[in-house]
Amino acid sequence: MKHLCLMLGVLLCTCLGVHRENFRTCSQSGFCKRQRNMEPGTSSYVVQPSTLRISSSSLMVEVLNTKNNIRFLLQGYGLQHGIFRVKLAEAEALRERYEIPVGLTLVAEPVQEELKYHGEKDGKLTFSLGQNKMVINVNPLRLDFLINDEPVTSLNAQGLLKFEHSRTKEGWFSSLGSSVFSLLSQPFREAKDEGAGEESEGEQKEEGEEVKAEEEEEPDMWEETFKGFTDSKPNGPVSVGLDIAFPGFRYVYGIPEHADTFALKTTKNTDPYRLYNLDVFEYELNSPMALYGHIPFMAAHNEKNTVGVFFQNAAEGWVDIHSNVADKSVFSNLADFVTGNNEVPQTDTHWFFEDGIIDIFVLLGPGPRDIFKQYASLTGNTPLPPLWSLAYHQCRWNYNDQDDVRNVDQTMDKFDIPFDVIWLDIEHTDSKKYFTWDGSRFSNSIEMLRNLSSKGRRMVTIVDPHLKREDGYRVYSDARDKGLLVKNKDGNDFDGWCWPGSSSWPDFMEKHVRDWWADQFALDKYVGTADNLFVWNDMNEPSVFNAPEITFPKDVKHLSGRENREVHNLFGKLVHDATFDGLLKRSNYQERPFVLTRAFFAGSQRTSAVWTGDNMGEWSHLKMTVPMMLSLNLAGIHFSGADVGGFFKNPDNELLTRWYQAGVFQPFFRAHAHIDTKRREPYLLPEAYMVVAREAIKKRYTYLPFWYQLFHESETTGMPVMRAIWMEYPKETNVFAMDDEYLLGDAILVKPVVDQGQTDIAVYFPGENTVWYDIDTYKTYPGRQEANVEAPLSKLPAFQRGGSIVPRKMRGRRAASLMYNDPFTLIVCLDKQGKAGGQLYFDDYHSYGYRNGQYALTELSFHNFKLENSVKFKGEGFTTKEWLERVVVAGVNTEPKKIHLVKPDGTKMELGHTYDAQSKVLTIRKPGVNVAEKWIINLH
Ligand code: GLC
Repeated sequence: MKHLCLMLGVLLCTCLGVHRENFRTCSQSGFCKRQRNMEPGTSSYVVQPSTLRISSSSLMVEVLNTKNNIRFLLQGYGLQHGIFRVKLAEAEALRERYEIPVGLTLVAEPVQEELKYHGEKDGKLTFSLGQNKMVINVNPLRLDFLINDEPVTSLNAQGLLKFEHSRTKEGWFSSLGSSVFSLLSQPFREAKDEGAGEESEGEQKEEGEEVKAEEEEEPDMWEETFKGFTDSKPNGPVSVGLDIAFPGFRYVYGIPEHADTFALKTTKNTDPYRLYNLDVFEYELNSPMALYGHIPFMAAHNEKNTVGVFFQNAAEGWVDIHSNVADKSVFSNLADFVTGNNEVPQTDTHWFFEDGIIDIFVLLGPGPRDIFKQYASLTGNTPLPPLWSLAYHQCRWNYNDQDDVRNVDQTMDKFDIPFDVIWLDIEHTDSKKYFTWDGSRFSNSIEMLRNLSSKGRRMVTIVDPHLKREDGYRVYSDARDKGLLVKNKDGNDFDGWCWPGSSSWPDFMEKHVRDWWADQFALDKYVGTADNLFVWNDMNEPSVFNAPEITFPKDVKHLSGRENREVHNLFGKLVHDATFDGLLKRSNYQERPFVLTRAFFAGSQRTSAVWTGDNMGEWSHLKMTVPMMLSLNLAGIHFSGADVGGFFKNPDNELLTRWYQAGVFQPFFRAHAHIDTKRREPYLLPEAYMVVAREAIKKRYTYLPFWYQLFHESETTGMPVMRAIWMEYPKETNVFAMDDEYLLGDAILVKPVVDQGQTDIAVYFPGENTVWYDIDTYKTYPGRQEANVEAPLSKLPAFQRGGSIVPRKMRGRRAASLMYNDPFTLIVCLDKQGKAGGQLYFDDYHSYGYRNGQYALTELSFHNFKLENSVKFKGEGFTTKEWLERVVVAGVNTEPKKIHLVKPDGTKMELGHTYDAQSKVLTIRKPGVNVAEKWIINLH
C-alpha cells in the first residue's frame, strides 16, 4: 500500500477508502448543474414540418429553439432489426462537433431499412419501421416510439432537451458567417410529395437575424476550477441533454460501470450515475460514482417488452433516474407526460453529456434476445476467445523474478491445481518502461516463456499506455520524434505522472498512432517475448496521478486538435484496440489475441476482455461481482471478471475460498492481488480450504467445453454468456431486480455464496414446469419456487436446467491447451417430458480457422429414450479427435435393460452402464464414438 501511496502523493492518501473529494460531484460540474436544473414541462424546441425531407429510410427536419432562435437539424433513420436512430445537432455551428467515426464504436455503418412516412396529423409526424412506429410531436418536439401502437420509449417527453449551441466568448454571434459548419446540404427529396403537412409551427430564422441568449451567463461557462486545477473551456458551454422515458417499465439496467445493483436505482437523493472513465482508488459500493469504463447503453424490461437505448457520445455523461414506483413523491407531477396515467409504472431517465451531439439508437426489442441482437448489430460481438483464456489465470502484483515464476508454476503442479496463464505486473519492466524487462530479474525471459510453453501455459505482461519521458527509452523517443504524443492545451507534449513518474501518452485517437503502437508488439521489437505472451492494458482511462480527477485535464489536445473533453470515454478503448491489432499482426492474423483492459467503451467487446479493477478482499465486494458483471454482460461486455480474492486487503481463508468458487462460474477467471498483500496462491491456503479451492478450479476446467459453447453462442447471436434471470424468464416479474443469482446461457443457474459463515442458501428456481438439477448430486428442485439448499464450504450452489445438455471434459489436466483432444462427458438433464437438447461446437480452440469453415456444429437431442447427435455443419477438411467418453442422464425413472450405440457407419454396439435408483441417474460408459459425427444412443 505504501508503494502506491508514495506514487499518488497527497492526492490520494491516506489509503483508506475512496477519496470522494478527488472526484467531482454534479454540483461541482458546470454542465451537470445546468442540465440537472432544467425544469420539466417547458420545452422550447419546436419542429418545423415545412422543412421535412425524407428518403426511403431516413428523414431530416429542422427544429427551432424558440427561446433563442437557434436552428437544429433532426435526422431520423430506420435501421435493420427494428432500430431507430435519431440525431440532433445544430443546423449551423461555429465548430464541427465530434461524432465518433464508424468503425470505432459502431462496427460498421448501420444498415438502413424502409421508413414509411404516414403524413402529419394533429401536429404529429408518423413514421413506421415494420411493426414499430416513431411519432414526432411538433410543438414541442417529442419523439414517441411504439411497438404495436403501444408507447415504450419517449424522447423529450418531459421537455428536458437542452442543447448548448456554439457561441463565442465575446458575445452571442449575431450572424452566421461563411466559415460555419453546416448540416444543411444533404440530398433529400421534399416530403410534400409524400403527403407532408401544412405550414411550419415556428418561423425560420432569417439570415442575419439576431439570436438570443437561452440562459444567463454563469461564472463556470468559460472556465471552471476544481481542486486548484483550471479547465480553460475555450468553446464555452457545449453540453447536450434530454430525457428518455420508458412508459410501462419499472426497471432499467445497464450504463456500466458502477459498483451498484443491476437494476438501476432512483437518483432522487444521490448524484446521477456518472459516465466518465476514471481511476477511482478504493472505490466504494452502492454508488453512482464513475469507474474505469462506461457504456451509454440502457435496457428496460417488463413482462411484455424489452427495449434499449444507446446514446452514442464519448464525452463525460451523467444519467438521472426517476421512477414513479420508486419515488412517487418526486414523480407524481411528472408522471403522465406520456401515459396520461400515473398508475402505470414508468421510469424517466435524464441523460446529459458535456460535448458532442445527440445521437440515440432506440432498440425496440421486443424481447431480450432481440435487443442483444440489435445492440450487437451496432457495436459488434465478442469474438470467440481462445480456449485457454477461459481457464484459470494466476496473477499478482508482482511475481518478482524468473525464479518466482518457476516456483509458482511448479508448486501449482505439485498441488495438482491447474492453471493456464501466469501474469506479470509493472515491476517486471525496467523502471516501468513498457516493452522492456528488468534485466536483473528477468534476464532470460525467452527461457521462462519456453518453460511455460512446454507445459502448455502462457504469460500475460502488463503494457500501460503511459510512456516514461526518458530520452534513452526507445518507445518514448520514437513516439516523441514522430509527433505521436497527446498535447497539453498549449500544444506541447502533455507531461503527467503515472507509475514511471513523468510520462506522456501516444494519441490513440489517431489511426496512424494505433498502427505504430500495434507494431511495438512484433517479436523483434518487444524483445524477449514469444508467441505465448499476451497483453494486459491498464491505467488507460487514462490514469494521471497529478491531474484533475486523476485523468487527462479536459483541455488536453489530441492530434486532431480536439480536446479530450470531446472524446474522453473512447480513449481507453482505442488503446486496447491497438494492442489487439498488434497481437493479430504478430501472428500474421492467424491466432486469436488475448487482451485485458480496465478502461472500456461501447464496442470494447470486439477486442478485449474487461475486469472490474481494484476491488477489495471483502465479502461485500465479492457480492458486488455479480451485479457488476450482469451489467457488463447486458452492455455487450461478455468476457468480464473481477479480481478473485479482491485486489486490496487480505481476504481470510473462507472468503478467498468462496471467491474461487464464485469465479468458477464468472466469465473471466483471474486471481490478482495488490503488491502489499500477503502471498495468496491457492496452494498457500490451509489444507481444508486448499482442497476446496482446488476442486473449484478443477470444476472450471471440466466446464470449459460449456464455456466455449457459450462464447460461440455469444459471437453468433449477441446473447450474453452471463444472464440475468429475466433474460430467459421474461415474464417472471419477481426476478426483474434479482442480482444475487444468474444464469450461464440458458442451462446453468448459479447462486454463489457471498456471506461469511453461511452453510445454506435460499435459491429461487425460475420456470413454470421446469425442473433444476444440482450439478453435483442431481437432486431436483421444481421451478417457480424458492428452496433452501445446503451450502457448506465445499459447496458451490449451481443447477442444471432439466431439458438441457451440457458438455464437459472430466480428465484432470494441468492446462486447457492439453485438453483439446480430450473426450467429452455429456450431462443430459431431462425435463418433465423426458426430453433434453443442446449443441456442440468444435474447432481448433486457438486460431481463426473457424472463420474459414474449420469447425463443426452438431445438435444433440434426447427424446423417446434416444440420444441423437446430428451434424449441422462440418467444414471441408475439418476433423477433430474428440470422442465421447461418457453420458450422464439425470431424471431417468427406470433403469433401461439395454443400451445401444448406433455408430456413424450404421453398425450397432452395446454399451455398459450404471444406474442409481435413488438419484435417478444413468451413466452410460464409453460410447467411444467421435463427437462431431452422427450417432444415436438408444435406451431399451
Ligand atoms: C492498477 C491496476 C492493478 C495493478 C496495478 C499495478 O491499480 O488496477 O490491477 O496491479 O495498477 O499495475
